[in-house]
Amino acid sequence: MNRDETKTVLLNEAFKIVLDHIDEGIIVVDAEGKIIYCNEVQLKFDGQKFEDVVGRYSWDVYNFEKKDSTLFKCLQKEEPSKAYVHYYLSRAGQYVRVTGNNFPVKQGSKTLGAVAIDRNLQNSEEMVAKVVELQKTLQEGKRDLAGTLGSGYLPEKRFFSFEDILGESDAIRQSLLWAKSAARSDSPVFLYGETGTGKEMFAQSIHSNSSRNLKPLISINCAAIPENLLEGIIFGTVKGVFTGATDRKGLFEEADGGTLFLDEINSMPLNLQGKLLRALEERKVRRLGGKHEIPVDVRIISSCNSEPTKAVAEKQLRSDLYYRLAVVNIEIPPLRIRKRDIRILVDYFIQCFNIKLKKNIYEISPEIYGHLEEYDWPGNVRQLKHWVECAMNMVPEDQTILIEEYVPQKFNYFFIRESNLGLNIVNHPSVERGVEVSKQIREQEIVKVVDELKRHGGNITKAAKAFGISRQGLQYRMRKLGIK
Ligand SMILES: Nc1ncnc2c1ncn2[C@@H]1O[C@H](COP(=O)(O)OP(=O)(O)OP(=O)(O)O)[C@@H](O)[C@H]1O
Ligand SMILES: [Mg+2]
Repeated sequence: MNRDETKTVLLNEAFKIVLDHIDEGIIVVDAEGKIIYCNEVQLKFDGQKFEDVVGRYSWDVYNFEKKDSTLFKCLQKEEPSKAYVHYYLSRAGQYVRVTGNNFPVKQGSKTLGAVAIDRNLQNSEEMVAKVVELQKTLQEGKRDLAGTLGSGYLPEKRFFSFEDILGESDAIRQSLLWAKSAARSDSPVFLYGETGTGKEMFAQSIHSNSSRNLKPLISINCAAIPENLLEGIIFGTVKGVFTGATDRKGLFEEADGGTLFLDEINSMPLNLQGKLLRALEERKVRRLGGKHEIPVDVRIISSCNSEPTKAVAEKQLRSDLYYRLAVVNIEIPPLRIRKRDIRILVDYFIQCFNIKLKKNIYEISPEIYGHLEEYDWPGNVRQLKHWVECAMNMVPEDQTILIEEYVPQKFNYFFIRESNLGLNIVNHPSVERGVEVSKQIREQEIVKVVDELKRHGGNITKAAKAFGISRQGLQYRMRKLGIK
C-alpha cells in the first residue's frame, strides 16, 4: 500500500471504531433510502442484526409509512431534517424512543444518500429519574429533621420562609401579603416576576407556611427539561412503555399531599399543558402507557417569567390552564421599582458574605449606594447579590468600609449592557483579582455562549445546535448566566 492508500484505510478503520463507541446511533442510506450502514449502537437500540437490515428500505425496517419516514423526507427535500422524536417497536417488542436529525450526503449538487444520527432517550430518562429520586431523598431528610425539631435541635434550614424575603417597599409588602394569605388556603398560586425577583423563594415560603409543610414540595423547571421527557416525569411511566422504562411515579404522585411547583410553566409544550389541565380538573393522573387513573392531592404553584397575558397571547400558555392555575395571582415586583429595598438587601448580603468570606465590612460608602440606586438591575435581586459577592471578594480583610477604591476596576461591567445583537450581559464578573474559581468558570461560559450566539447572528436555535444541546437548554443556560 502506498501512503495515500494507508491513510484511507486508517481513516476508514478509525471511523468504524469511533462510530461503534459513541452514544449516538448512526444509519446511512443510499439515494433510494436503502440502508447501507448501521453502527453497533443503533443495532443495539433496535435489537437488530446488521445482515437483517442492510439493503432494506429504512422505512420498512422501522415499520413507518414511506411518507412519514424522516430519512425519506430528507432525501426528497435534500436538506437536513428538523430534530425529531421517533417512537417505534424494536424487534424485541419494546418501544424505543429516539431523538435525532437527518442530513443529506452530497457530492457537489448530487445527493448520494442520507445519514441519521439518533440519540436514545432512555439515558436521559434514567438521569432525570435519578434527579427526581435525589429530590425525594432530600425531602425525606427534611421530614426527619422536622421530627427532631421538638427535641430542641435546630436543623439546617432547607426551605425559604416569608421572613427570608426582605424588603420594606409597598410593592414587595403587597406581594408578601397575598402570598401569606395564599399559604393559609389550598388554592393554586400563579407567580409572575422577572428573573431573579424571588419566585423560587415565594414558592418555597408558601409551601413551608402551609398546612402541607410536612409533605413534599417538588419543584420542576419546565424550561430545563427536554420537552419529550417532561410528560413521563410529570405523570410517571409504566414498565415497558419504552426501552428501559420502569414503573415509576411521576412528580404528581411524588408530591401527593404536598405541593408541586411548576417553574416557567410557559415553557411546557401546549399539548402537555392540555393534559395537565385535565389532571387538575379530575385530580387524577395516568402514567405514560398506564391504564389506570391514580387519584392525587396536590397543591400547584406555578410561575412564569414573562407577563402571563402576553404568554397567553403569544400561545406559550393555554388560557384555560392559566385561569385554572391563577386562582391567586401574585406579581413579584422588579427591583427597579422598589429601589428603597436595595439598602436592606445589600446590608443583608454583606452580613452573609462577611461570614462566608471572613470579611469585616459593616458599612458601604454613600457614593456606592448612589451607583446602586441609579442602576435599574435587569437581573433583579440575584444580580444585586452577585454584585455584593463580587465586591466582597475584593475588599481586604482588615477593611471595615466598602469604598469605591476597593471595588474592582472593572466594576462598571456590572452596569453595562452589551446590547449588540440584542445580547445583554447582565452580570459580567470581569474582575482580575480574588475571583473564585466558580466565577471564572461562569465568566468563561458567558464568553463562550455569547461568542457562539454572535457567530450565529443571535440565532439561539443555531447556537444551541453548535453546542449540541436543545434550544430550551441553551435558553435556560442564558438565563442562568444573565445573558439576554
Ligand atoms: N426579597 C428577597 N430577599 C432576599 N433575597 C432575595 C429576595 N429576592 C430574591 N432573593 C435572592 O435572589 C436570588 C434569586 O431568587 P430566586 O431564585 O427566588 O429568583 P427567581 O425569580 O426564581 O429567578 P429565576 O426566574 O431566574 O429562576 C436568590 O439567591 C435569593 O436568595
Ligand atoms: Mg427560579
